[in-house]
Amino acid sequence: MIGFKFGRCLKSRLSSISGFSCVVNRASSSWWSHIEMGPPDAILGITEAYKKDPNPKKVNLGAGAYRDNQGKPYVLPVVKKAESMIVSENLDKEYAPIAGMPAFAKASAQLAFGKDMNGLNATVQTISGTGALRIGAAFLAKFWPGEKVVYMPNPTWGNHIPIFRDSGFDMKTYRYYDAGTCGFDFNGCLEDLNNLPKKSIVLLHVCAHNPTGVDPKMEQWKEICEVVKKRELYPFFDMAYQGFASGDIDKDASSMRYFVDQGLSVFVTQSYAKNMGLYGERIGALTVVCQSPEGAKTVESQLKILIRPMYSSPPIHGGRIVTSILNNEELRAQWLVELKGMADRIISMREQLRSNLEKLGSKHDWSHITDQIGMFCFTGLKPDQVERLTNEFSIYLTKDGRMSVAGVSSTNVEYLAECVHEVTK
Ligand SMILES: Cc1ncc(COP(=O)(O)O)c(C=O)c1O
Repeated sequence: MIGFKFGRCLKSRLSSISGFSCVVNRASSSWWSHIEMGPPDAILGITEAYKKDPNPKKVNLGAGAYRDNQGKPYVLPVVKKAESMIVSENLDKEYAPIAGMPAFAKASAQLAFGKDMNGLNATVQTISGTGALRIGAAFLAKFWPGEKVVYMPNPTWGNHIPIFRDSGFDMKTYRYYDAGTCGFDFNGCLEDLNNLPKKSIVLLHVCAHNPTGVDPKMEQWKEICEVVKKRELYPFFDMAYQGFASGDIDKDASSMRYFVDQGLSVFVTQSYAKNMGLYGERIGALTVVCQSPEGAKTVESQLKILIRPMYSSPPIHGGRIVTSILNNEELRAQWLVELKGMADRIISMREQLRSNLEKLGSKHDWSHITDQIGMFCFTGLKPDQVERLTNEFSIYLTKDGRMSVAGVSSTNVEYLAECVHEVTK
């Protein structure tokens, strides 16, 4: 009754200000009438089109998420085990500290660097790899003393550009992918890095370069590191795929670790989306490697000042899963086996796709399918060929010819090879 009275009273008061509710609706919509409709996200658009396609043979090679051999999303058994252990502990749901859980940060840094960093690392828990990049970019935007420019490989992961642009940076590129060989343009890359203004920020993919699947060899990384030292460049390492590329967490981190062992200060972002399949848990880390433990403490204090007004503190569930797995010997061992299983399945799909194309008598050189590594294959298919794959054969991938190999399975690999052969004859 009281509620009714209050409702009526409020309604009559509002209507006395000449139909308030209608005014609110009209006014608020007109406030944003100067905004243009934004384009849909390119990759999500592909998945939408795929979902609507009634063809039973359809294949989605757009989304960068692992699928099992039946094409289904895969929750790692070790994650399920860790989750049931966490539930049985009956933990509370208190806020995590601003920088996240200390045990998580310690275990993540240990995983990234393969050793204790003796206090030289400022490591904070982040909202997956994207959040780590965003916090890192915000830190640089606030404190980088030089020109606000980031040099990125050409091409790079599509989201790198808006992340740094929205943080106030200009983006420039260095040569990376050689379309002629579908491989690494080592000479071009080295030449461009050599010509960068001294003390520039350089973004580097630690392994499983997205979108090309093309990584420098260790000897090439060493030469890149020499140029970085000579030009006093600042390396920002994006490590979204540790262990997911080769199946070996140490091998996949070796490029970045080499730079750290050379005494360089670096930024490193980590994501547990791919290597633990924790996509939607949004769990990752950002580390700034500093020259002294005092420097690291200062940097961490400033990272916290950046995080606090953005989201106060990170979510706890994903952090608990990762910490349980990394800190428990048995779970960690199981994780490494399951991680290798995912990497091996992708490597085997690459081999099967290539050998099927060769069996079909394709005249093209498909060696890059197996030379490239990680979730993505830059096939070298032209936009019109991609269009044919989609329109005629219901095979969905991005216009640049990037295939998510995670979407290939033993049930569709032959069909995929036949269709690729058909559009490249
Ligand atoms: C190169 C690269 N960096 C970072 C990310 C961040 O992913 P997430 O925010 O899901 O951890 C991705 C995801 O696809 C990526 O490919």
